Amino acid sequence: MVLEGNDFSAKEFRRGVWHQTATTVALLTSAADGRENVMACEWSMMISFAPMRFVVSVGLESVTHKFIEKSGEFGLNFCSDQQAKLSHISGSNSLRDVNKWEMDEFPKYSGKKIKAPMISECILNVECKVIERLSFSDHTVFIGEAVWAKYDPEKTPLIYHKGKYWYLGVNVPKE
Ligand SMILES: Cc1cc2nc3c(=O)[nH]c(=O)nc-3n(C[C@H](O)[C@H](O)[C@H](O)COP(=O)(O)O)c2cc1C
Repeated sequence: MVLEGNDFSAKEFRRGVWHQTATTVALLTSAADGRENVMACEWSMMISFAPMRFVVSVGLESVTHKFIEKSGEFGLNFCSDQQAKLSHISGSNSLRDVNKWEMDEFPKYSGKKIKAPMISECILNVECKVIERLSFSDHTVFIGEAVWAKYDPEKTPLIYHKGKYWYLGVNVPKE
């Protein structure tokens, strides 16, 4: 059954719209005041080739938001399909309440150009400097310019759809 409307305040309808999207998931890393953080971020993607830029949408209440505002930098660590647990842990806990780094083995390495830690074993790591921001009542959309990138063509991305993690499926022919 096809559903349509514009009552986005209705939880079921809003959830239904969201559930039709399929995204990759990035572990969004940040650092400020001598502290480091990581959170799962599905609203993260590349938006231009040259210069290479990425966008992230980050909730105002998150510690990550505060750290990105303070530092003007963020790390995007796109999960491989072996990293669902790290996404789950970093996305369902806040640094406000717990030390996520102690909850599992987040394999870290130091960024080349930014202070935020980076996560190894990902499909793609991009170090970004914030060049623009769009402020909304609940989220800020940060646009970052890539200053360093690293990728592993052997790995496959983690897919997020209907609030669950998925493996990438088979290639669909163009015709
Ligand atoms: C798979 C997944 C994807 C998420 N994507 C986003 C997102 O794109 N933007 C966002 O603001 N929060 C997102 N979240 C929620 C944050 O990761 C969550 O609020 C986190 O606890 C914030 O951590 P912090 O307060 O330590 O920064 C996502 C959570 C999960 C599990």
